[in-house]
Amino acid sequence: MIGRSVAVIICLAAVSASAEEVSLEKDLLPLFQRSCGTCHEPDSGIRGAIRDGTFFNTKKDILDKVGKSIIPGKPDESGLVKVLDQTKTFGKKKLVMPPPGAGEPKWNEEEIASFKSWITAGAKDN
Ligand code: HEC
Repeated sequence: MIGRSVAVIICLAAVSASAEEVSLEKDLLPLFQRSCGTCHEPDSGIRGAIRDGTFFNTKKDILDKVGKSIIPGKPDESGLVKVLDQTKTFGKKKLVMPPPGAGEPKWNEEEIASFKSWITAGAKDN
C-alpha cells in the first residue's frame, strides 16, 4: 500500500515537471539578449537593426510584439517565430537573423520549441 502511494507521488511529480510553463524572463529573454540584443538595442549604432525600434533586451521589448509579430495561441502565425526559424521573407528576400558570420548564435530547435510553447500558453508576462 505504501509502495503504491509512493509510486503515485513520483508519477505526479514527473507530470508537473514536464508541464512546467516556459518563462519569458528566465527562459526566453536570455536567448533574445544573446542572439539579437547586441544589434537590436537603441545604442548599437547599427541603423538597419534599430530603424523600426525592433529591440530585444527587456521583457517589455518582447511584450511590445504581442499582437504584432507574436500572436498569442498561434505560434505558426507569429512572424517572430519565422524570423527565428529563418523562414521569414519580405517579398522575395529572406530575412536571416542573426546575420550569419556576425557571431551571435542562431536559435536551435529546442529553443524555438520553447518560444512556441510560451506563445501557445498565451504569450504571458511571466
Ligand atoms: C549582427 C547584428 C544583428 C543581430 C545579432 C540580429 N540582427 Fe536583426 N537586423 C540587423 C540588421 C542590420 C537589420 C536590417 C536588415 C535589412 O534591412 O536588410 C535587421 C533586421 C531585422 C528585422 C526586420 C526589420 C525590423 O527591425 O523589424 C527583424 C524582425 C530582426 N532583425 C530580428 C532579429 C532577431 C529576432 C534577432 C535574433 C535572433 C536578430 N535580428 C539579430 C542586425 C542584426
